[in-house]
Amino acid sequence: MPADDKNKVTILRLRRHKREGTKTVLTTAYDYPQARIADGAGVDCILVGDSLGMTTLGHKTTIPVTMDQMISASEAVAKGAKNAFLIGDMPYMSYQVSNEEAVFNAGRFVKAGMDCVKVEGAMTERIKAITDSGIMVMSHLGLTPHTRAKLGGYRVQGKTAKQAEIILEQALELQKAGCNFLLLEGMPRESADMIAKELSIPVYGIGAGDKVDGQLVIFHDLMGLFWEFKSKFVKRYCEAGQIMQSALKQYAHEVRTGEFPSQENFYAIKEEELEKLLGGGNWKHDEVVYETDQGFPTNHSATPETVTIKSRDSKKK
Ligand code: KIV
Repeated sequence: MPADDKNKVTILRLRRHKREGTKTVLTTAYDYPQARIADGAGVDCILVGDSLGMTTLGHKTTIPVTMDQMISASEAVAKGAKNAFLIGDMPYMSYQVSNEEAVFNAGRFVKAGMDCVKVEGAMTERIKAITDSGIMVMSHLGLTPHTRAKLGGYRVQGKTAKQAEIILEQALELQKAGCNFLLLEGMPRESADMIAKELSIPVYGIGAGDKVDGQLVIFHDLMGLFWEFKSKFVKRYCEAGQIMQSALKQYAHEVRTGEFPSQENFYAIKEEELEKLLGGGNWKHDEVVYETDQGFPTNHSATPETVTIKSRDSKKK
């Protein structure tokens, strides 16, 4: 197994960020190109979120997402991200049933290349079981989508002093159980600030104000690739969906007008072969079989295949 790059973000770097007051940058990715883009931009952490259900699979919630879908996304992200600290999000019912299942499923994420797993809710016993097995855990409190029905919908949490104190107590318990990071979702900045200050582990936020130790924004939200709704806390940094669509419109236009493909996209044929081809059926061989190598560049998406070209004469037979 290759050693980690010296620039690989580790828990030590993330703890140092907290100590020194350096903000940590987190985003999500669900496939290889997104991971390469995020990692290349130098984000500190990539979450393979079960938000994949909504951003990528078109579900209305994260509830239908399966372990297999998360593992396949995690493997792709791990291949694309060289340096970022990688967090695999445990999907609905992958950790609730028992400590054994929780540890087994957390282990699948590690095998898929993740550095840590994220677990929703104040499930102290589960989190202790996972961290005792040597796997790092990011706990997720506040607005927890897996229990949205119990919360009465996607509602901001910690809006009263009592609610904020309950979340702080849960966070302290989770920290005691061995959890390594905390993510707070959908909370007033003051409540999140109080929790971040009380905890010694790094505390990140998604829609939890600017006082926490780092920010998570979902890739598709910040890129303009999710159109169902836009939460108040989201800032769009580009409209990638519009950029892609206008590229496709241009492509469609060029195909329809004959502008694409053009000379630069054609493969060459040797002069003498061209003469044979155009020379009125004067074939030396009845059948030309190109085995797999047709001279396509190997880093190109074209897939060489065996192609059989029959002469006009042989077609007539
Ligand atoms: O799945 C995800 O991306 C998440 C964030 C919304 C926190 O859990």
